[in-house]
Amino acid sequence: ADGDATKGATVFKKCMACHAIGEGAVNKVGPELNGIVGRKMGAIEGFDYSDTLKGHNAAGDTWTAEQLDKYLANPRADMPGVKMVFAGLPKDGDRADLIAFLSQFDAT
Ligand code: HEM
Repeated sequence: ADGDATKGATVFKKCMACHAIGEGAVNKVGPELNGIVGRKMGAIEGFDYSDTLKGHNAAGDTWTAEQLDKYLANPRADMPGVKMVFAGLPKDGDRADLIAFLSQFDAT
């Protein structure tokens, strides 16, 4: 499903306590998210990831749009052991809009 990136910017407000994206984005409680669609899991240098995400990084796993959609619906059910304290986005449309928004930012 094609999301609406403008609406996704509003959904991203739920992430902003912990994540930054865009020019000059730095790690906060969570890693910066530039280029996250297509980025290697657990790949931000200097961020202290859980063993779960370190394991995915070691396995060479990548965040595809499909993976993000599953993960963001219920992070800790999708990836047991992940230390992201977020209940998830139950609405399919919210996730599609958010992923369209995230896709606009290339890795820096
Ligand atoms: C990790 C997205 C909300 C804290 C991640 C990752 C993604 C992500 C894609 C994996 C990054 C990587 O592999 O480099 C999002 C989105 C959110 C959201 C789109 C909103 C819908 C939050 C919130 C918090 C948070 C609200 C804090 C309360 C974290 C932490 C990690 C993480 C600590 C690292 C997890 C670990 O190492 O196990 N997030 N996140 N996130 N996020 Fe979020």
